[in-house]
Amino acid sequence: MYRLCVLIFFIYLNNFIASPVQSDIEQKFLEYEIVPDVLSVAPTDYLAVTFPSGAEVHNGNVLTPTLVKDLPTLSWNANPDSFYTVANVDPDVPSHAEPTQGQVVHWLAGNVPGDDILAGDQLMEYFGAGPGKDSGLHRYVLLVYQQPAKLDFDEPRMSNLTAENRYYFSIADFAKKYDLGDPIAGNFYRAEYDDYVPILYEQLGV
Ligand SMILES: *[C@@H]1O[C@H](CO)[C@@H](O)[C@H](O)[C@H]1NC(C)=O
Repeated sequence: MYRLCVLIFFIYLNNFIASPVQSDIEQKFLEYEIVPDVLSVAPTDYLAVTFPSGAEVHNGNVLTPTLVKDLPTLSWNANPDSFYTVANVDPDVPSHAEPTQGQVVHWLAGNVPGDDILAGDQLMEYFGAGPGKDSGLHRYVLLVYQQPAKLDFDEPRMSNLTAENRYYFSIADFAKKYDLGDPIAGNFYRAEYDDYVPILYEQLGV
């Protein structure tokens, strides 16, 4: 009996230590329903995202459009010999309650060598968060996919001086089209309207 108890105890202990504990970021992607709204599988790795304002993205924290207006720096466990696709989408357009305009793409870069995003193809140049007035908090999801190889993207290249071609996007469909699999790293923040939004709308001509 004693031996059995000891054995069970060690099996228990071993499970506890060896089972991969669901990472924070996976849990948060589920808690905030980014899975299933945006993805079917959450990334396991944490994507570090820092804005020039000093703001850091962390597991759905609340930031402001002012804090995220400029191109962030991202870091993940990148292999310098691999190509990556980096995306930033807002699935809550015009609002989380009624996202009838689907995802808006805030940033899409492909063929990123290692983690040097600006050396990749800027398919959709970065612009920051622009949640409409009184539309509540939106989720801004940042994702990194590891590409199987260097790719030929047939999407038109879009600057950040227009909102054209940014609506009704699906990062899951895009990933499927280019065989990117599931994202390897991710993170997200939330933001609602502030007085930077009209300035962004002016930049985008909307
Ligand atoms: C617009 O995109 C360019 C090229 O990626 C980038 O250098 C610039 O910072 C972006 N502007 C804003 C306001 O995000």
